[in-house]
Order: sequence, then C-alpha cells, then structure tokens
Amino acid sequence: MNRSAKIFTSRRTQQTCLSSTSAFQAPEPPQSHGQPVFPDVHIRNDAATEGTNAFLRNDDSDAVFVVNGSSRGIGLQFVQTLTQRTRGKIVACCRSPATARDLQTIASAHQHRIQILPLDMEQQSTIDDVAYKIATEYRRVDALFNVVGILGDGVTTPGPERTLAAMERDWLQKSLEVNVIGPLMLTKALSPLMRTTGTKVIRLSNRNASGESEQLQINLPHGRPPTVVASLSARVGSISDNRLGGWYSYRLSKAALNQATKTLALELKRQGTWIVALHPGTTDTDLSKPFQKNVQKERLFPVDFTVNSLMDVVESLDDPHSGGFFDWAGKAIPF
Ligand SMILES: NC(=O)c1ccc[n+]([C@@H]2O[C@H](COP(=O)([O-])OP(=O)(O)OC[C@H]3O[C@@H](n4cnc5c(N)ncnc54)[C@H](OP(=O)(O)O)[C@@H]3O)[C@@H](O)[C@H]2O)c1
Repeated sequence: MNRSAKIFTSRRTQQTCLSSTSAFQAPEPPQSHGQPVFPDVHIRNDAATEGTNAFLRNDDSDAVFVVNGSSRGIGLQFVQTLTQRTRGKIVACCRSPATARDLQTIASAHQHRIQILPLDMEQQSTIDDVAYKIATEYRRVDALFNVVGILGDGVTTPGPERTLAAMERDWLQKSLEVNVIGPLMLTKALSPLMRTTGTKVIRLSNRNASGESEQLQINLPHGRPPTVVASLSARVGSISDNRLGGWYSYRLSKAALNQATKTLALELKRQGTWIVALHPGTTDTDLSKPFQKNVQKERLFPVDFTVNSLMDVVESLDDPHSGGFFDWAGKAIPF
C-alpha cells in the first residue's frame, strides 16, 4: 500500500463495515483547477469522541437524521451507515417506498429507528407532507442529507449532454427540479426544526394531509450542537475546474446547488445550522454505471467506503466550513 493511499482510507470503514469492500484503499483525490475559498476539512480521529459536536449528535437517541434518495445507491448506504454510527431516528425518504426492497430490509432490522416516507423532489406536495410528518412526530431535525440526484445514461435520456445540440428543455428542467429545486425546498421546509440558537419555541404553519393549513407550536430541544445539511454535489459542478465541457444539465444543476449551499450558509448560521456541498468521488452505483468503463479500478469507490468517508467529513466540520464544497477526503473544491 502506498502512503497516500493509506492516508485516504476512511477512518471508520475498517471498524464498522463487515462487507468485503471494507479494506478498500482510495488514491489521493485529484488536484482541482482554481482556488478554493474554504479551508480543507481535516478529518479528525477524535471527531466523534466524547464532548465533540459529532459525538453529541450521534449519541443522542432523540436526534433525527433525514435522508432522501434512500431507495438505492449512496442514499441507501447513508441509511445503513447511520444505523451504525448514530443512535437517533432515521427518516428515510424515497419516491416509492413500496418498491424500495433493500431499504425495507434495513428498516425492518431497525424498526424502532427507521421510518420510511414517500418523497418525490418534483412534487412540492410530497415535500410539504414530509415536513408536516416530521414536525408533528419528531419535532426536530439534527441532520439532513440531500442525496437525490439524476445524471441520465445518455441512451434513454438526453443527459448527460456532450454538446449544446444534445440539450433538451425538458431534461434541463427536470435536472434542476431534482438536483437543486427539490433539495432547496426541502431544506426550507425543515430548517425551522434545525434551529439551535435563539428562541426555542417556534410556530409553524404547515399543510396537513388533507391540505388544510395547521398551526403547530414546537418546543425545540435545548443544548443541541449545530445541525447540519449535507447536499450531494459533484466535482463537475465546479466552474473553475471545468476543463472538458459537456454534461450541461448536470453541471448547471450542481453549480446551482453549490451556490444555494453558500447562500444558505450565510443565512442559516444565524440559527446554528451548517450546510455543505459534498463530492462523493466516482462511486459504484446505478448513476455511474454507464460511465464506469473509463474509470480506473482504484478510482471507483465501493458505496460503503464513500459514505463512511463523507460521514467522516460531516463529523469533522467546524464553523468556517459552512457554505463550502468538499470532496470525500475533506479537500475543499473551488467553486
Ligand atoms: N455515483 C457517483 O459516482 C456520483 C458522483 C458524483 C456525485 N454523485 C451524486 O451523489 C448523489 C447520489 O448518487 P447515486 O450514485 O447514489 O445515484 P443513484 O444510485 O442513481 O440514486 C439516485 C437516487 O435519487 C433518487 N431520485 C431520483 N429522482 C428523484 C426524485 N424526483 N425524487 C426523489 N428521489 C429521486 C432515486 O430514487 P428512485 O429509486 O426512485 O429512482 C435514487 O434513490 C447524487 O446527487 C449524485 O449526483 C454521485
């Protein structure tokens, strides 16, 4: 094993994952073009040990972790990994709970911790329903993982478009809906439940299942560490790092997600919520399958390695990182 590979092995992977991929060694992340404006996140070995923010969050059995895109790929693994690294409740959102068999299997092994809720990022009513359900049942959110994303396969979809001529209005609109508008609207809906500073009594006007507006008064918990929104972006969303062109809708949507992250961080720091955009590295999921033949073996990450690495980053965050865009190893990526 070379030295850099050792450095970038996920700290937790060998401890917590029993799958055959647990010993995966990742090479050093590539050098980005452009200047990052945020400091790197240094992955701390003591990130989740007693007294740290991450420890307080992970050890709290009342804490609520919300994951979307949890039917498969990185989102499904987030649910699995959260059962191992935290003690709280997990709200796993996906478009079609009835057909999300792998998610159901994980949920049935952790019945008291996992609730599956339907959520389609293109349907605002489902975002409202999820927010209402979480507000009435849990009355708090401690971390939100916006994982959903679409890229397309280039065969059955226009995306990812290699040329301007390949672009189609409907696909661009759908990419923006799923990759940025949905995650932003969900963050808006859940952010009152993530407040950790200032007033602890909030009043929400939520729409209930019958579509009627309902007033809720919620007493937020005292003494919580900063809450976190982590949104899955992609390196190709970096404007300064763009040397190849192409992948129009995906690049546009992830660049917009990065801008939303920076803008939200400026507003949400007043309520004690951190928000970051994360690049997972090329990970072996359905999304990357059509493009894997040109990826070197050591650069195609098993999904458990990716998620444990991203959790290491989230657990090592501090105030100055909020608003930033980081890869799976915690290196800041230029916008
Ligand atoms: N894999 C990689 O190499 C890679 C690299 C860079 C960035 N990323 C980012 O990482 C994130 C996760 O990617 P992945 O590889 O896990 O992808 P994936 O395996 O294709 O999974 C995508 C997830 O998004 C959900 N989804 C799609 N459209 C949705 C909608 N309208 N509403 C709600 N959920 C929807 C899918 O649900 P259904 O099962 O219902 O379709 C699925 O759960 C994405 O944001 C992606 O851009 C991935």
